[in-house]
Amino acid sequence: MSEASQRCLMIVEDDTGLRSQLRWSFEDYDVVMAGDRTAALTMLERHAPAVVLQDLGLPPDPAGTSEGFATIAEIQAQAPYAKIIVVTGNGDRDNAVKAIGCGAFDFCSKPLDLEVLRLIVSRAFRVHELEAENRKLRSQSALALDGIIGTSEPMRDACRLIEKVGPTDASVMLLGETGTGKELFARALHRLSARSEGLFVAINCAAIPEPLLEAELFGYEKGAYTGAHKQTRGKVELAEGGTLLLDEIGDMPMALQAKLLRFLQERVIERIGGREAIPVDVRIICATHQELPELIRDGRFREDLFYRVSEVSIRLPPLRDRAGDAVLLAQHFLEQAASRHRRAVRGFSAKAIKAIEAYPWRGNVRELENTVNSAVIMADGRQVGAEDLRLGAIGGADVLNLRQVRGEAEKRAIQRAMTNVGGNLSRVADLLGVSRPTLYDLLDKYGLKKPGDTD
Ligand SMILES: Nc1ncnc2c1ncn2[C@@H]1O[C@H](COP(=O)(O)OP(=O)(O)OP(=O)(O)O)[C@@H](O)[C@H]1O
Ligand SMILES: [Mg+2]
Repeated sequence: MSEASQRCLMIVEDDTGLRSQLRWSFEDYDVVMAGDRTAALTMLERHAPAVVLQDLGLPPDPAGTSEGFATIAEIQAQAPYAKIIVVTGNGDRDNAVKAIGCGAFDFCSKPLDLEVLRLIVSRAFRVHELEAENRKLRSQSALALDGIIGTSEPMRDACRLIEKVGPTDASVMLLGETGTGKELFARALHRLSARSEGLFVAINCAAIPEPLLEAELFGYEKGAYTGAHKQTRGKVELAEGGTLLLDEIGDMPMALQAKLLRFLQERVIERIGGREAIPVDVRIICATHQELPELIRDGRFREDLFYRVSEVSIRLPPLRDRAGDAVLLAQHFLEQAASRHRRAVRGFSAKAIKAIEAYPWRGNVRELENTVNSAVIMADGRQVGAEDLRLGAIGGADVLNLRQVRGEAEKRAIQRAMTNVGGNLSRVADLLGVSRPTLYDLLDKYGLKKPGDTD
């Protein structure tokens, strides 16, 4: 069924006199007429009316209501968002209430007060329009957040914030460790905004040396400096009508910070070597892995700029604080990598999942993505095994440390117990809550001497 037509009103009425009177009353709408259920359903299919004005007494039961109710039910099944206004017989309150109970929007009883009916119809159109707008926004936001994976509480909080702030023009500061998804969220903010048809332009302030960064941001006129062969627009100008992401804003040199602040205050730029003030309408989103208050304290970031660019701050949590998300993301990256590399890998072994859950992921989602990608290439069978992830080999210092710490704690506990009970192994085992054979194994494992052992 096509999208409901915003001005289309369907009138389902078998009385020809009343039909022409109604058509005349609603001539400012696109009116379509039907005299019975079959015609109504055909018109519904063809014109997708937003509002239906329907008589309850329809043939073959013009004196009763059975055909009217059957028609309401079918219209609702076919066009659940259409607003149905029921026309009932004089004083027929019971059927009016029944119709509302069945999902009709409102009712009006005969003889019709056209003034009142016009109000009801206009309100039905308005409600229909608002609901359609709401559905559209909701599906857009689902789409905008598409590709952002995570069900942990801190991720849900971050997504909720994004949904709230996205449609506004507020400047947003995205904070978070490397690889936490700052750019991904910046793009989602753009998609949620009224600027989504405009460009999303990103510039990494840390990757470009100072003199070039200025030219990249603000552009230059021909001949502004050696090598400026032609007039070039900067990223700020390119983002006109859209969104500009200033990535790693914490690394922006002080001189440029002053220039950026001036732009944010006046909303005009001047290209290098140019004299013309060019107005630019962009929304600014910034991202950084640095702690800006510290930079401000050290005199490396302007406080006034900080307030300008962070009307709203959103902190993306590190992956290790997102319970359950690592495995979800890993499965997503596995499917992506398997299709990209044409591998028949389908999932992870139980040990691999444990390893993914235990690993600290200092490089966050980006590290996980890279790890899974190469594991898919390494895997021999249909499953990625723990060894394919090579977490121990790459950056597994923490995993090794944990094992060492546990081992040392065990060894110290055994030694203390041995000293306390004077080398009686049964009592040592009791004290430690292990069996004698286990204790023997542990003594061997840690190279501890059993009573009676000789050097
Ligand atoms: N929640 C998530 N769901 C799906 N993919 C994600 C998620 N978070 C991050 N990614 C992916 O991880 C990678 C890193 O994300 P992104 O580049 O947005 O991080 P960043 O915070 O900007 O990192 P850096 O500080 O290194 O620039 C990207 O490929 C991104 O698509
Ligand atoms: Mg980034």
